[in-house]
Amino acid sequence: MTKVVVVYHSGYGHTEKQAKAVLQGVEAVNGVHGTLISVTEIDQHWEKLHQAHAIIMGAPTYMGSVSAEFKKFMEATSKFWVDQKWKDKLAAGFTNSGSQNGDKLNSLVELSIFAAQHAMIWVSLGLLPGNNSSTGSINDMNRMGAFLGAMAQSNVDQPADVTPFQSDLDTAKHLGKRVAELAQQFRK
Ligand SMILES: Cc1cc2nc3c(=O)[nH]c(=O)nc-3n(C[C@H](O)[C@H](O)[C@H](O)COP(=O)(O)O)c2cc1C
Repeated sequence: MTKVVVVYHSGYGHTEKQAKAVLQGVEAVNGVHGTLISVTEIDQHWEKLHQAHAIIMGAPTYMGSVSAEFKKFMEATSKFWVDQKWKDKLAAGFTNSGSQNGDKLNSLVELSIFAAQHAMIWVSLGLLPGNNSSTGSINDMNRMGAFLGAMAQSNVDQPADVTPFQSDLDTAKHLGKRVAELAQQFRK
């Protein structure tokens, strides 16, 4: 069975909601097993990451970069970076922030460089931008217009049961499905 792990951090639940949508996309693909892991519990789960064919990583954007908790996870992987243990696994990323822009592209850049350091193969979002024409709307998938990964925006005055928008969750689900399908192809 093809194994895909979604590893994430979320301080207040919004990125967790996005991570769960990514997992839904993974689990929509027959023959693929998805696992959701919070970096706060990573020490019990390293082996699952080592066994995975693809690892999808997500963090909220805090102060223009991935959250410190997620960065702690990234640095902890240096233990096996030295042996390039994750070489040729697929990788992809997602992030969520309060502002429409909020400098969250930087978080995806960080995640993609991290994947490259591990000699992983980065999977892009694979969607054209939404909400960029006179007929577009905030309900379009990829309303944030990203290519490198899935972006979400959560209103800062609303809890995670209300925000981010369904369009961002659909975008996250798309990324999970795309990675799962590619992981299956790549294994052949
Ligand atoms: C310490 C901190 C720094 C933040 N920095 C940014 C930022 O640089 N850009 C932005 O748009 N939002 C920023 N935000 C807002 C969060 O990205 C936003 O509230 C997000 O939904 C939080 O996700 P979470 O609930 O998964 O933690 C910041 C929030 C916190 C707590």
